[in-house]
Amino acid sequence: MITKTHLSGFLLVHAAFRAEFCRLAEACSRPRDGVHEELLEEHLALVLEMLHSHHSHEDTDLWPKLVGRDSEAAAVLAGLESEHAELDPLLAAAADRSIPLPDRSPTLLRLHELINRHLDHEERDAVPYMLEHLTPEDIEADRRKAMGDFGRRRIPVIFGWLASGADPGLLTAALADTPAVVRLTFRLFWWPAYRRRFVRLYGKAVALPTAVEA
Ligand SMILES: [Fe+2]
Ligand SMILES: [Fe+2]
Repeated sequence: MITKTHLSGFLLVHAAFRAEFCRLAEACSRPRDGVHEELLEEHLALVLEMLHSHHSHEDTDLWPKLVGRDSEAAAVLAGLESEHAELDPLLAAAADRSIPLPDRSPTLLRLHELINRHLDHEERDAVPYMLEHLTPEDIEADRRKAMGDFGRRRIPVIFGWLASGADPGLLTAALADTPAVVRLTFRLFWWPAYRRRFVRLYGKAVALPTAVEA
């Protein structure tokens, strides 16, 4: 039996998805110039790739594993998988660079609504099965796989993005799972760099929970 703290990485990713599509919808509605537009395209592509790989991981690995351990989970998890499929056309429309960014803004706002609804559903109905049936070894294997998927070069920006959507408790719990050198590098380099990126993206500052900044 694991606790919710073991799922802090999983929930941290959810929190980042919950926050980002609304921010993107607003910024994409009126890019400042070509440089801003290119940065928004790059950031949107990164977030969409993260969402695609999160859904793929759930559909091909996590949900089958849970069903293998508890067949009663099957109906709930099939429902969540079909919600992923329902989101796919919107994700494709959001990624379509032949459509100008301002014209994709309403799609991003719709994604914000639907993704938040999906995550509410998942956290209410799937997380209890995860808590009951996953082991610390499962969590560690998923963490290693996610880090491999991020790729060494992108880890700084992905860590910054994840932190920018978190509440203090969740971020502290997720960082506690990482080596001390990663926490230090995050605080000294990755977060300041992401804060500058956030200003370029969204024209305003983003704060980090004081528990981590202290
Ligand atoms: Fe999820
Ligand atoms: Fe999901």
